[in-house]
Amino acid sequence: MFKNILVAYDGSEHANKAVEIAAELASKLGASLHLVYVVAREHAAESVAEFAASEHVENADLLELEAANASILIPIERQIQASGVKEVQTQTLRGDPAEQILSYLNHADVDLIVMGRRGLGRIEGLLVGSVSSKIGGLAPCPVMTVK
Ligand SMILES: Nc1ncnc2c1ncn2[C@@H]1O[C@H](COP(=O)(O)OP(=O)(O)OP(=O)(O)O)[C@@H](O)[C@H]1O
Ligand SMILES: [Mg+2]
Repeated sequence: MFKNILVAYDGSEHANKAVEIAAELASKLGASLHLVYVVAREHAAESVAEFAASEHVENADLLELEAANASILIPIERQIQASGVKEVQTQTLRGDPAEQILSYLNHADVDLIVMGRRGLGRIEGLLVGSVSSKIGGLAPCPVMTVK
């Protein structure tokens, strides 16, 4: 049924739940998983830029993406593999999270998205976050929002 599942991860409780559910589904269905995290800034944070300059690293933006991949996605990737999913691809992107995930769908053969209903945002009262509502409305495939 579903062969390529994308899970959108932002480090939130709801996203952790999304990872658990996506991993279980992928494991049972023999599907591949795309684990995607978007750094929601145009350029590296000031602290990263300062660190990069002190280490004579030219591309602070790339350094920040690599650091996010190593510290955030690799541990989650291991967790997913431990739950029996054979193929996991990690992607660290930069920009507007909903736009980046939607454009990733243009070149990846994703047939299901699993994501949190809410994320790290602090605005209480909204039932659905802006990223999940935008993707829920615009993605060309089914979207499962979890909490
Ligand atoms: N930067 C991101 N990278 C990857 N996935 C994300 C990102 N931000 C949000 N998501 C996904 O979207 C889900 C819902 O988060 P969303 O950002 O829509 O809610 P929120 O943070 O509560 O509200 P808002 O961001 O609108 O203030 C998350 O659980 C996660 O699955
Ligand atoms: Mg958010």
